Amino acid sequence: MICCGIESTAHSFGVAIVSDKRGKCNILANEKHSVITKQGGLIPRELAVHHQKYAVRVLKEALKKANLELKDIDLISFSIGPGIGPALQAGAVTARALALANNKPLLGVNHCVGHVEIGKALTGCKDPIVVYVSGANTQIIGYEKGKYRVYGETLDIGIGNLLDTFGRKLGLGFPAGPILDGMYFKGKKYVELPYTVKGMDLAFSGLQTAAVQKIGKERKEDLAYSLLHNAFAMVAEVSERALAHTEKKELLITGGVAASKALRQMLQKMCDERKCRLFVPPFAACLDNGLLPAWLGIVEYKAGNRMKVEESAVDQRQRTDSIEVNWL
Ligand code: FE2
Repeated sequence: MICCGIESTAHSFGVAIVSDKRGKCNILANEKHSVITKQGGLIPRELAVHHQKYAVRVLKEALKKANLELKDIDLISFSIGPGIGPALQAGAVTARALALANNKPLLGVNHCVGHVEIGKALTGCKDPIVVYVSGANTQIIGYEKGKYRVYGETLDIGIGNLLDTFGRKLGLGFPAGPILDGMYFKGKKYVELPYTVKGMDLAFSGLQTAAVQKIGKERKEDLAYSLLHNAFAMVAEVSERALAHTEKKELLITGGVAASKALRQMLQKMCDERKCRLFVPPFAACLDNGLLPAWLGIVEYKAGNRMKVEESAVDQRQRTDSIEVNWL
């Protein structure tokens, strides 16, 4: 079957067209347009305006790339949550209109579960602990008894948000992540900063405040090194405990922060010591994009999941562990 997936949870409006060739994810098109802000921070209303403005253009580009017409599509899927309300709405409205006008089935799917399933499909891992690290999200996820359980997560800001905010205070451009990553490897001295793991959960705002207060008092590279070291070590600690608890042997990183060499290096070391395998999807697939809902749409539809248009309201706070996983 061929699915057209629409992603609009935050700053990106994406459309991907995917088919399932012998159960494998076959990418026919993956187009998107993103809002980029110099000052940082996303204004929900402006995201909706952007997504509405680019929806038709991105959809047309995807169809052209796939060399298909709407009549060739078997399913329209979209990310139903979690995300920023007005941004989600823009994608949902587009998906509903496409489904109704072309008489196609509609399926709203969870964004975080989308990250997990496309990551598995593109790397070939089977039953991983998933480290989902992005601007807004930081979750350590794994499948257990019919659901993707969240073993640990941030109690305040996403780890990407921490990096962006600190980078902005240092006067770096956006996105700051890659520059901070480069600085990490130039750091020579560890500067004492908070390290906050509470049970299996993480908190980054104290680390952020303390690091910002030390700007101008320490070398930039040393501060970047120390901030990243603590943030990533916190993620590695919780991931390792999730691996130990579940006895899983695979670790999958996804989300925008998966681009960080420093994070990958730390997780690789931990995986080597535990004799686990580390998987990282191609970077474009780690980011928010239409592949997430497109592939999860196919997976769920084939498992028998259906949705009426009148039941397709978005859910800004939809939890990863609220989804019944009936396809594994
Ligand atoms: Fe995401």
